[in-house]
Amino acid sequence: MKIGVILGSIREIRRGGRVAKWVMPQLAQFKEAEFELLDLREYPLPFFDESNSPEGLKGNYSNQVAKKWSEKIASKDGFIIIAPEYNHGTSAVLKNALDWLYYEWVKKPVAFISYAPGAIGGTRAVEQLRQNVIELQMAPLREAIHITYVLDSLDENGQVLKGHWNERLAKLIDELLWWTKALKDAQDNDKIKNKTLSI
Ligand SMILES: Cc1cc2nc3c(=O)[nH]c(=O)nc-3n(C[C@H](O)[C@H](O)[C@H](O)COP(=O)(O)O)c2cc1C
Repeated sequence: MKIGVILGSIREIRRGGRVAKWVMPQLAQFKEAEFELLDLREYPLPFFDESNSPEGLKGNYSNQVAKKWSEKIASKDGFIIIAPEYNHGTSAVLKNALDWLYYEWVKKPVAFISYAPGAIGGTRAVEQLRQNVIELQMAPLREAIHITYVLDSLDENGQVLKGHWNERLAKLIDELLWWTKALKDAQDNDKIKNKTLSI
């Protein structure tokens, strides 16, 4: 199983960096899957500007970064999204990265990890994202992690300062891998029967 871990902030100084530094080493204990950090800084997509929708484009993107993003997302079986909360939604850059593609996301599971400096921990961003990804035919997990008071919870190297975040993450990944296996098996069966359009 191949899991992409999408980091949804590209700010020069970002708290999402410490969240990624905490998550990635923890994932090494799950030997049945490969995890890759997908930092949106490395995919500088323009705001979506194609004349056709991603569903209509069927992978024929004119933008080179979109092609690279498409290939990367198509190669994954499931996702973890590390989401900041901006104005009670998520970052524009993350929403845009979702909007650019369609088939590459379809019927794949996604687990959310949000964070914020206050007591809400990015919950509102995740609630919006759940609605967005359903439209992409993804399967958002009920289980999620919302890191409250992120500066008190994790240091800049991703070490846990306060909170049972490691235990929460282990539970989240168990759940994600269950869904990933189930949906990957179903997708592989579909491909054998040549029923789905794949890119
Ligand atoms: C444009 C903007 C809007 C924000 N809106 C919210 C918000 O609605 N709720 C919240 O808890 N924090 C909000 N914050 C604080 C962010 O959660 C905090 O800056 C966090 O570190 C952002 O993630 P990043 O540093 O990885 O970009 C906002 C920050 C920015 C820059």
